[in-house]
Amino acid sequence: MGLFDILSGKKALNRTGLLNGFCDNHIHLLPGVDDGIQSMDDALELLGIMEAAGVKTVWCTPHIMEDIPNKTDFLRTHFEKLKSLYKGDIQLNLAAEYMIDSLFQERLENDDLLVHVNNHVLVESSTISAPYNFKSTLKELMRKGHYVLLAHPERYRFLEMKDYAELKEMKIRFQLNLTSLLGLYGPAVKEKAEKLLSAGYYNVVGTDTHRVSRWRQMEEQKIGNKIVKQVSEMPGL
Ligand SMILES: [Fe+2]
Repeated sequence: MGLFDILSGKKALNRTGLLNGFCDNHIHLLPGVDDGIQSMDDALELLGIMEAAGVKTVWCTPHIMEDIPNKTDFLRTHFEKLKSLYKGDIQLNLAAEYMIDSLFQERLENDDLLVHVNNHVLVESSTISAPYNFKSTLKELMRKGHYVLLAHPERYRFLEMKDYAELKEMKIRFQLNLTSLLGLYGPAVKEKAEKLLSAGYYNVVGTDTHRVSRWRQMEEQKIGNKIVKQVSEMPGL
């Protein structure tokens, strides 16, 4: 640790205690179903690393989108296989990360959704432009009795602070990617994540890990004490 890091109160993530008791609300751990972890061996290895870091709860959130049209039953079957092979202490749960697209409209109409904790549905958008029906879809989800958990809002380039304020007015819940705060998507996303965090807009955190190597890289990144405190004080869902 350099002098600057000591003076600014920065430590590597794995020495902050933040991962101790951690709930990873967003991770592509279920193997071979999307662009995340591909093999059962890698999934079990990652769970071992997470366990050693103190992680207590994991929500597997595989992609569901037009390009990756995972069916609900198919994911449930794979999840049961993962659960039967994993012998550790982390509590495993299954939800999904839904892209707001026409497949999502179909699943929503058919009430065919894998929900996150307390009836939340984790949704994402392209990072470049908003889906044409962005807000109306979020409203439709809520009208059907769900809560909306927006994945990594800091990554959406088309949203400005006034837009985030409007989404919070609509009672949309926000999920922060820890990797955004650590600068792994670049400085602009990091800055936005810090602003949203300071505004108290986030409800929960996830890592959005797609690779074992990415988790290891994340654990070595430096993070400030003030930010660790803000993340650990998020209200939850
Ligand atoms: Fe994701």
